[in-house]
Amino acid sequence: MPEITTPLTVRGRAIKNRIAMLPMVTFPFIGDGEDYYNDRHERHYARAAENGAGLIILQSTNVAGAGREQGMWTPGSQAILARIAENARSHGATVMMQLAGGSDRDKDVNQWSTEEVRARQDELKRAAIRAAELGFHGVEYHFAHGFTLCRFMDAGANRRTDEYGGALENRCRIVTDILPEVRERVSDDFILSARMGEFTPTSQEGVATARHLESCGIDMLSVSFGMTVPEGPVPDDFGFSPVTHSGYVIKRAVTVPIIGAYGIRTGEQARRLIENRYADLAGIGRAMLADPRFAANILNGTPYRPCIACKRCSWFTDNTRCPSLKLPETV
Ligand SMILES: Cc1cc2nc3c(=O)[nH]c(=O)nc-3n(C[C@H](O)[C@H](O)[C@H](O)COP(=O)(O)O)c2cc1C
Repeated sequence: MPEITTPLTVRGRAIKNRIAMLPMVTFPFIGDGEDYYNDRHERHYARAAENGAGLIILQSTNVAGAGREQGMWTPGSQAILARIAENARSHGATVMMQLAGGSDRDKDVNQWSTEEVRARQDELKRAAIRAAELGFHGVEYHFAHGFTLCRFMDAGANRRTDEYGGALENRCRIVTDILPEVRERVSDDFILSARMGEFTPTSQEGVATARHLESCGIDMLSVSFGMTVPEGPVPDDFGFSPVTHSGYVIKRAVTVPIIGAYGIRTGEQARRLIENRYADLAGIGRAMLADPRFAANILNGTPYRPCIACKRCSWFTDNTRCPSLKLPETV
């Protein structure tokens, strides 16, 4: 039976335990200087690495500008990213970047010209290669949460009539087409992953999509939600959220490892997720903001500060105002 402390091998690389820090934009750190990434990001991720997380996935980074050292890829940002990767490596953590195909401010993907899609594809490719050069162990393409790649993948949202719309192979093409070239340009153990939801918009469609991504060379899948958050129902004895259940549905359909997520806030939940084989890695988001030592504490069986699920850290707000940061370590 796998345990929370059991290493997991992905593409020949051993992730030292089953705890994955989920990608979370650190909204209050933006605007500290002319470069997007700054020393506050460096300290934030160093703390996660020092405190035992087996896998750290950085917050979403928009690939726009990756080929031109612009946007989130200025030389100053890249210097910080290289230090984040180096810090994580020095603590034995596996560290990956999450790559977004665009932000919700982009115009509707149905209005992109074929040339615009190809240009973005080029940046999705360059960003992955650059991430490898900066010292990251892998990248996760962000097909979740209604953002640009999610809109390409979802059969309801994508109404394109060129080779990037229609059949599921076409809806994934913006990323799957570039995977062979990325693979050629990075080391053999570089992890190529994707974050997606089960419903694209149906479960059947999502399962077929996951299988297709696996067949195209995706090494790991992080399962969250797609255009909307599923509401269930889930089997009574499952004991986790409908989003976490999506991870289990996808896990049973593919052979690549799955990161399960959503609402995992206690050591008991993380252990149960892994021991029941509902997922291969326990994805932890807000609980890591409530207590940056969450991973170390649950691995060592020592008390931690609980996330009280107040949702104050939710999208586009200040996660450093987490009320749990003032609580004693009690759980
Ligand atoms: C402040 C904040 C920022 C987030 N940013 C991202 C992101 O950049 N990319 C992403 O895929 N998910 C993002 N998420 C979603 C988390 O990765 C995670 O799926 C969600 O918080 C549910 O997990 P949890 O219950 O363990 O927090 C963010 C969540 C929060 C709270």
